[in-house]
Amino acid sequence: MAAENGIPPLSEDEIEDGRLLFASECSFFFGAQHIDQLPPVGRPEVAFAGRSNVGKSSLINALTGRNSLARASSEPGRTKQLNFFDLGERLTLVDMPGYGFAKAAKSVKEDWQQTMFAYLRGRTTLGRVVLLLDARIELKASDTDVMDLLDRAAVVFQVVLTKCDAVGPTKLAAKRREVEAVCKKHAAAYPEIVLTSSETGFGIEQLRGELTRLALPRG
Ligand code: GTP
Ligand code: MG
Repeated sequence: MAAENGIPPLSEDEIEDGRLLFASECSFFFGAQHIDQLPPVGRPEVAFAGRSNVGKSSLINALTGRNSLARASSEPGRTKQLNFFDLGERLTLVDMPGYGFAKAAKSVKEDWQQTMFAYLRGRTTLGRVVLLLDARIELKASDTDVMDLLDRAAVVFQVVLTKCDAVGPTKLAAKRREVEAVCKKHAAAYPEIVLTSSETGFGIEQLRGELTRLALPRG
């Protein structure tokens, strides 16, 4: 299971720490629409980035085991600000607006995108970006643009394939090879990608364990 999901095997303790952390209190504490409105730097942060509708809010809900902590929607462009969630006073999760959504009004879109890019480039407490790609959709220029930006900013990112429940095993294996080949070209990327489904829970336990490595120790 662990190798299947692309995460190096975690010990039972790490899985258990992940389970405990993500079962602890999780609450929204800040929404930022502009880069000059960010909350003060505090605990280590993990940001969830990806194209509109890729499943960022759904993944945060699956990880934290809440149905409606982060607002998910079938209508792309649902998340319109950087939403900060405190997880057990050990880790901050950041739900980001999606990029690459053509339908939003241009001025509005540029606003979120500038905020998003400025945040990714300059946040000292940002420990990792979880970069989501939809298993059913081909990689777009906007995805590789973000990877380039993270390389330049030296922000470590981990690619997570979402909606793996919606793709057959052969197509999924090919997708994984394709995306891992792209990751190898990016200095800031983890070479291995993580396969998940927020629908079925596939890969969620492992991703919890993996992200818990960035959290403050259990106090
Ligand atoms: P924005 O906030 O608009 O950028 O979107 P988002 O990336 O937060 O996506 P969101 O979580 O709102 O999900 C978008 C759509 O994808 C919703 O209709 C979800 O039900 C669907 N979805 C999310 N995760 C999965 C998954 O694991 N499997 C399947 N089949 N659908 C999913
Ligand atoms: Mg969202």
